[in-house]
Amino acid sequence: MSQSIHVSDVRDERSEGSAPALERGGVAPVLRLVRTLRSSGEVRADGPAPREVSAAAGSAAPPRRGLLGTLRRVRDAVVEDLDAAVARDPAATSRAQMAIVSPGLHAIWTHRVAHRMWAQEELRLPARVLSNVARAATGVEIHPGAQIGRRFFIDHGMGVVIGETAEIGDDVMLYNGINLGGRTLAKGKRHPTLGNGVTVGTGAKILGPVVVGDGAQVGANSVVVKDVPAGHVATGIPARHRPGRADADLYDVLVAEPALWI
Ligand SMILES: CC(C)(COP(=O)(O)OP(=O)(O)OC[C@H]1O[C@@H](n2cnc3c(N)ncnc32)[C@H](O)[C@@H]1OP(=O)(O)O)[C@@H](O)C(=O)NCCC(=O)NCCS
Repeated sequence: MSQSIHVSDVRDERSEGSAPALERGGVAPVLRLVRTLRSSGEVRADGPAPREVSAAAGSAAPPRRGLLGTLRRVRDAVVEDLDAAVARDPAATSRAQMAIVSPGLHAIWTHRVAHRMWAQEELRLPARVLSNVARAATGVEIHPGAQIGRRFFIDHGMGVVIGETAEIGDDVMLYNGINLGGRTLAKGKRHPTLGNGVTVGTGAKILGPVVVGDGAQVGANSVVVKDVPAGHVATGIPARHRPGRADADLYDVLVAEPALWI
């Protein structure tokens, strides 16, 4: 098991003490980011709580360090994303096909880089620029500050907006035309938190710092402005929620009702 830390730990490390004068500008922020990534094992945006620091020390082999270790972790993360996408897109035929044609994957991969840059104060402008490039290429706008977990997938991509303070857990799936937006101009937490295993249907808007619980589903074109309990299905404008079907596992739904997901 590899040691992992949350990106906030990188921020903490960065803010310790004052940087030497030579390190305050130019390529120094980039070098610091690379050093941090190399020395810390795996930096993950884990989504909503808990923001664990999984200390595998003593219980497993230490993480590989150096450039090779970093490349292996990146490869593993990419393969994990690809497998999640293949499992969730009935039109997918292979990892290679998805790697080439899926705008959702291109958007999330770019975001993972932009999010790490965002942790460095000096790299925030380039992070925004990178995220704008991804937006132009994919139609998916993810603010670099948004925290997104593992195996995230956006099917079809186009028209998705994810705000700065949004938090997204593991195994979350979004369709096109979704907004995880704010309802206030005040700074601070103003975007939604999606738990693990949440699915959001096409065209849905989830607005404000609401919490959508683990395994919840948000129906197509719904507008969610209140919390949705774990395992519930929210539909309508404004969305009302009801308990989900006991068997409403995403993969079962995909197999049983493929036409729903075309
Ligand atoms: C919300 C959703 C997950 C519910 O699925 P489900 O649990 O199988 O629910 P059902 O199909 O049994 O419908 C239950 C009720 O909710 C209603 N309903 C379903 N989806 C709805 C929606 N998006 N908005 C409003 N009402 C909806 C149904 O009309 C039905 O109403 P009724 O009980 O009065 O007849 C699903 O309908 C949905 O919207 N999925 C998103 C699919 C999507 O975005 N696909 C994009 C492909 S590109």
